[in-house]
Amino acid sequence: MKLPPDIAPHFEFRGGRLHVERVALDTLGARFGTPAYVYSKAALVDAYAAYANAAAKYATRGGALVCYSVKVNSNLTILNLFASLGAGFDIVSGGELARVIAAGGSPGKVIFSGVGKSVAEIRMALAAGIACFNVESLSELRRLSAIAGEVGCVARISLRVNPDVDAKTHPYISTGLAENKFGIAYRDARAAYREARSLPHLAVIGIDCHIGSQLLDDAPLLEALDRLIDLIDLLDEDGIEIEHVDLGGGLGIRYGNEAVGTMPPVPADYLARVFAHVDAWRAARYGGKPIAVMFEPGRSLVGQAGILMARVEVLKPGTSKNFAVLDAAMNDLIRPALYGAWHEVVSVVESGAPETVWDLVGPICESGDWLARDRKLKLAEGDLVAFLSAGAYGMTMASNYNTRPRAVELLVDGSDVHVIRERESIASLFAGERVIV
Ligand code: LLP
Repeated sequence: MKLPPDIAPHFEFRGGRLHVERVALDTLGARFGTPAYVYSKAALVDAYAAYANAAAKYATRGGALVCYSVKVNSNLTILNLFASLGAGFDIVSGGELARVIAAGGSPGKVIFSGVGKSVAEIRMALAAGIACFNVESLSELRRLSAIAGEVGCVARISLRVNPDVDAKTHPYISTGLAENKFGIAYRDARAAYREARSLPHLAVIGIDCHIGSQLLDDAPLLEALDRLIDLIDLLDEDGIEIEHVDLGGGLGIRYGNEAVGTMPPVPADYLARVFAHVDAWRAARYGGKPIAVMFEPGRSLVGQAGILMARVEVLKPGTSKNFAVLDAAMNDLIRPALYGAWHEVVSVVESGAPETVWDLVGPICESGDWLARDRKLKLAEGDLVAFLSAGAYGMTMASNYNTRPRAVELLVDGSDVHVIRERESIASLFAGERVIV
């Protein structure tokens, strides 16, 4: 058996068994149980290198920083790995900042996005000395200046501008349209910058946007860049100098159900297009004066590096549907239930069972608890299956619904296996609860 091309590099079948790097996944199922998230270190390193090598080509001009978007997979080992490779981080909460610091990331390379930063989170980020706040409203701007004044410092800021371009992705993960809650409306941005300049405890340093996720074409991102460039030119007329432009994340990955011929943009090509565009603009208008560029990728760094492995508990063939009930459920991987997302699924060990069309579902008491529908697989009870491309927005969106402990997370490095998060114990799930009498 072969995996579809471009999906799950460093995962492959050898001798009828799915391997991650040099380890057979069925041995991990036996040793650590299921459900289990399993990541390939080499796949993470390769994905980061694709960005870093492309970014390095801009080093002698304005410089480019890759800020990994922590929400996508926030395991401390993964954050530590990216920090050691030189990444910055895009965070959206105080919790994520604490994780970055615990993982050895440098607060000086952290940017803080999000529409609803609390006073406590702002204080925490100021105390840590983060690189930049990506501010999303006038109210936040004023709040940030006031808090920075109270603690006696200056907050470096960028305004997240909503460029009103269509990312052409799922409505739940599209963020750059006027109707979305994110960012400052394009037409209000110039005035917002003027206000930012007038506030005493802010230093305006950047501009940013993030138009959506799982983009299969980078044209909308380049369109957003154009809109930011127009705005930077207007700000220049106002005497406001922008030192960096941050294009957010968004590059999609192949899940395997895309229309034939659809290929997600390759990070190196996308970055090269951005740099060429920026260079031409800076040469034409600013005598070549450099400007720094930042990116906040998430899915394209970790998505293909992880799988979710589950075991078939019960087979329920029926008249209209055949159900394979797994020990993994929507609480482990919510993307299918929430977005109708499609993940490739394969048997971990090739089996002799007859090929049948199955719906793969979890044991949770909801009809929405499904992980894959209408898949042709050879399944027997007790078999292991793997959902591919599950490294992004898998474990971080997992919950304890139905009092289900969250899965163990394993990182494979060659033939070494590391438990990077233990399976939760049932006792820990209600440890903070009290029975009152
Ligand atoms: N920067 C900001 C401000 C973001 O909001 C996001 C993702 C990213 C960067 C990273 O975007 P990426 O490179 O991963 O596309 N849970 C959904 C995706 C939600 C995206 C949220 N924002 C999913 O499972 O498809």
